[in-house]
Amino acid sequence: MKTNLHHITLLGVVAALTACGGGSGGGDTPPPASSSSSSSVVSSSSSSSSSSVESSSSSSSVSSEGPIAIEPDFDLYATTPTDFPVGVAVSAANENYSIFNHSDASARQDVITRHFSQLTAGNIMKMSYLHPQEDTFTFGDADQLVGFAETNGMTVHGHALVWHSSYQVPGFMNNYDGDFAAMLTDHVTNVVQHFETEYPGVVTSWDVVNEAVDQGAGDGFRRSVFYNELPPATDGDIPEYLKVAFQAARDAAPDVDLYYNDYDNTANETRLNKTLQIAEALNEEGTIDGVGFQMHIYMGYPSLSHFENAFQQVVDMGLKVKLTEIDVSVVNPYGSNPPAQPEYDEQLANDQKQRFCQVAEVYLDTVPAEQRGGFTVWGLTDDESWLMNQFANSTGADYDDVWPLLFNADLSAKPALQGVADAFTGQGCN
Ligand code: XIL
Repeated sequence: MKTNLHHITLLGVVAALTACGGGSGGGDTPPPASSSSSSSVVSSSSSSSSSSVESSSSSSSVSSEGPIAIEPDFDLYATTPTDFPVGVAVSAANENYSIFNHSDASARQDVITRHFSQLTAGNIMKMSYLHPQEDTFTFGDADQLVGFAETNGMTVHGHALVWHSSYQVPGFMNNYDGDFAAMLTDHVTNVVQHFETEYPGVVTSWDVVNEAVDQGAGDGFRRSVFYNELPPATDGDIPEYLKVAFQAARDAAPDVDLYYNDYDNTANETRLNKTLQIAEALNEEGTIDGVGFQMHIYMGYPSLSHFENAFQQVVDMGLKVKLTEIDVSVVNPYGSNPPAQPEYDEQLANDQKQRFCQVAEVYLDTVPAEQRGGFTVWGLTDDESWLMNQFANSTGADYDDVWPLLFNADLSAKPALQGVADAFTGQGCN
């Protein structure tokens, strides 16, 4: 795996539901005012060297002056104070923005291998991609990705062995006529074992179950096909399918870290408590290593104290905390009046830099080194983010861009990247 070889010299809200899993619905609560910050952006046009931009009032739009960019003299993963993974979700196979097929593929690969030490497949390691029929496993696309990680000294966070979202539940699992627990065990065992055998030590963690919580359901557990087949054995218990899946994963790969992963589980106390209930029950069985917080968040929501509180409760259980799918949309559409398309100016870019920095900082401050499962962003460039589609589908809001990630569409680094590095190197957030 990668080690920190580089000597580093650094140059340096909205009370709404955090975004949710594909197809799993949205939420809304009116937003408070967004956060602000006063320091100026260390920025330059992507096409020139690092002259700093005079921050005039607010009118430097992306389209007229090019992206607001920095030229980092660091590799992000190498700035971590301890050796936790710094990850990015990537597209592969024939997806848009595939790191293998996109017109920019090799430039994307360069940025990814420079700044990150771990990959998550944005889609291609989900259930139906790997196991479309009961007797058919299709590992070719995932093998290409995991092989790429191995070649480049990176690890992979597997995502996800069990997820309700209908577009990726294999058809044969619906209306399954047979022993569902045995079938689920077989699914998890085969998938986990494949990577253990073919790429030993590369897939270092899995989201075993993704998004089992639904606060609208009677007992707070989502009525997925998995729940319907394997519900809680007794009132007050967690659904059996969670226990079955985690046990199978543990048996297949005792040394791999196993996560329960969910969204909107920091500020939302009901969803946080449900997450904690799942973690606690699995912890009693010894089959879980950590909790994944997706972290699809906004500029001012959730608050840093919400993050701290949620992370702390997992830390207190002795489990790892992994931030699995971070993106920071600069606009939150889950209010009664979705805001208009924002302009991404230097002020906003700097606010977002500060926000990324603070998120990374609260992670480091709350989670002790040995319990840090990693810090992963959900996509490389702003234009590839899933959020524009998600917002359109769940609220009808039609945004060209919500600038949620660390790199501009042209692959130049945003001030937000500097923000994360500032936190990792203890420079403070400004
Ligand atoms: C998203 C992908 O990014 C999209 O490309 C796809 O259309 C839907 O799924 N929570 C998760 C991820 O756990 O798997 C989701 O990924 C985003 C929300």
